[in-house]
Amino acid sequence: TAAEKQGYPHFMLKEIHEQPQAIADTLLARTDPDGRIVLDELRFDGADLRSADKVYVVACGTSYHAGLVAKHAIEHWAGIGVEVEIASEFRYRDPILTPHTIVVAISQSGETTDTIAAAAHARDQRARVVAISNVVGSTLTREADAVLYTRAGPEIAVASTKAFTTQIAALGVLALFLAQERRKLFPEECRDQLARLEQLPELMEQVLEADGHLAELAERIARADYVMFIGRHNGVPIALEGALKLKEISYLHAEGFPAGEMKHGPIALIDSGGPVIAIATRGHVHSKVVSNIQEVKARGAEVTAIATEGDTAVKEHADHVVYVPEVHELLYPILTVLPLQAIAYHAAVLLGRDVDQPRNLAKTVTVE
Ligand code: G6P
Repeated sequence: TAAEKQGYPHFMLKEIHEQPQAIADTLLARTDPDGRIVLDELRFDGADLRSADKVYVVACGTSYHAGLVAKHAIEHWAGIGVEVEIASEFRYRDPILTPHTIVVAISQSGETTDTIAAAAHARDQRARVVAISNVVGSTLTREADAVLYTRAGPEIAVASTKAFTTQIAALGVLALFLAQERRKLFPEECRDQLARLEQLPELMEQVLEADGHLAELAERIARADYVMFIGRHNGVPIALEGALKLKEISYLHAEGFPAGEMKHGPIALIDSGGPVIAIATRGHVHSKVVSNIQEVKARGAEVTAIATEGDTAVKEHADHVVYVPEVHELLYPILTVLPLQAIAYHAAVLLGRDVDQPRNLAKTVTVE
């Protein structure tokens, strides 16, 4: 109903704007008075976490993309190898699991059949299962050894937004907790990184306020036959998520790729004027992404770069630049996904789509 939308024309737009608060809530009270991370709800003791030698992340859809983002943070901070897998694949494989394997099952609803089955498959083989969910008491949380909740509040729109960014935030805390318990980071480093996470809501507000020219950009996108999203490192899952958001609600053909793979096929799709959206924030792969932008430009693409404020170099190569504030390299996904959500939203509205209830899709997939 209109009242539930609180003045927003769609739940999706409302939920996009709820993200800063949802992240703040998800990060709330995760430390003790000494600034050490405490995840009481996790119920694992330090010894379990110290002896862990492998992490699998299993999920579907947008939650899978959150897992791909988290892989970078867990490997970098906690020094433990992470594989991220689609739940419907994992459940029918024979993954090598032991009591020292941690399986992180991510599901906003906690009711996705494939993710629940993947978690059960892992438990059968004596792996330890941590659920990341937004719904207290959901089936997945009851099947898991431990739970870490996102606190996004109810998400109504089929296309996930605030659940995604809160999953990334919760997984960031989990990565830091693993780093702390495994003594991979000094306590002050953990505190610094947590403080950086806590600054995100304010920075997200800044990005969300600068929505104006995204509606204009979306007009060009809405006219395209095909939209390509590219990125590297933790920009890859954001490219995948940007493409997923766009196809889910606008029905435009969109795909995301690791930018370094373009030469192996996708660049053949580039046509004069075809839109390419590149995640090009600062970090160790920045210059590589800029080269990839030049490659698609040379073939006639119209490039929109998502870049770090103050990055004037990108402006020389891209046709349009959307700026986000500077943050630690591992934290960019929470900011860079925001303009992509907005572009998808505006494009779907322009095309007259049913934004909150796209055709053929369900909010929660409780069948195989
Ligand atoms: C459906 C929804 C997606 C969601 C996916 C996984 O496809 O439309 O938005 O990402 O299910 O849902 P879950 O509740 O397991 O995170």
